[in-house]
Amino acid sequence: MIEPRRYREVMATFPSGVVVLTAFGKDSLPRGLTVSAFCAVSLNPPLALACIEKTSNTLPAVQHAGGFTANILATGRFDGIAWRRPESDRGGPILEADSAAYAVCTLKETIEAGDHWILIGTVVEGAHDANVPPMIFSRRGYFGL
Ligand SMILES: Cc1cc2nc3c(=O)[nH]c(=O)nc-3n(C[C@H](O)[C@H](O)[C@H](O)COP(=O)(O)O)c2cc1C
Repeated sequence: MIEPRRYREVMATFPSGVVVLTAFGKDSLPRGLTVSAFCAVSLNPPLALACIEKTSNTLPAVQHAGGFTANILATGRFDGIAWRRPESDRGGPILEADSAAYAVCTLKETIEAGDHWILIGTVVEGAHDANVPPMIFSRRGYFGL
């Protein structure tokens, strides 16, 4: 088996975007965490997945709400304060001012994988702003396009 450090170095080399995955908790308050593990799964039906650690404080909110919003961060500082509700009552807060795009997902499947859960969501809403460049994350650095 590959050593944990080597595994991290290998995986950190793969460039990704940065997503803030949000959900509304039982108390109706916003929860969220940063994830790089986010990708498209299927076009028809439109499915996307995110991998989140089993210890994540955001997981109970995703389970309670039955969905989440993947906010694909824009280059620049993350403000994380301004948010609005999606049309779907299962999606999480949309961080419009900080995002280049977002996908509102209803939770379709939760698959156990090691120390993470794979959350598969059906994308029910979304938008992108072609004028806003997404943030790129690789080798622990953040870059613009
Ligand atoms: C750039 C970046 C990418 C990350 N990617 C992931 C990820 O894909 N999955 C994950 O579970 N945590 C990821 N993390 C770590 C979580 O954001 C972090 O553990 C967070 O504190 C969890 O918050 P919560 O417990 O409130 O949900 C990432 C952190 C950063 C800064």
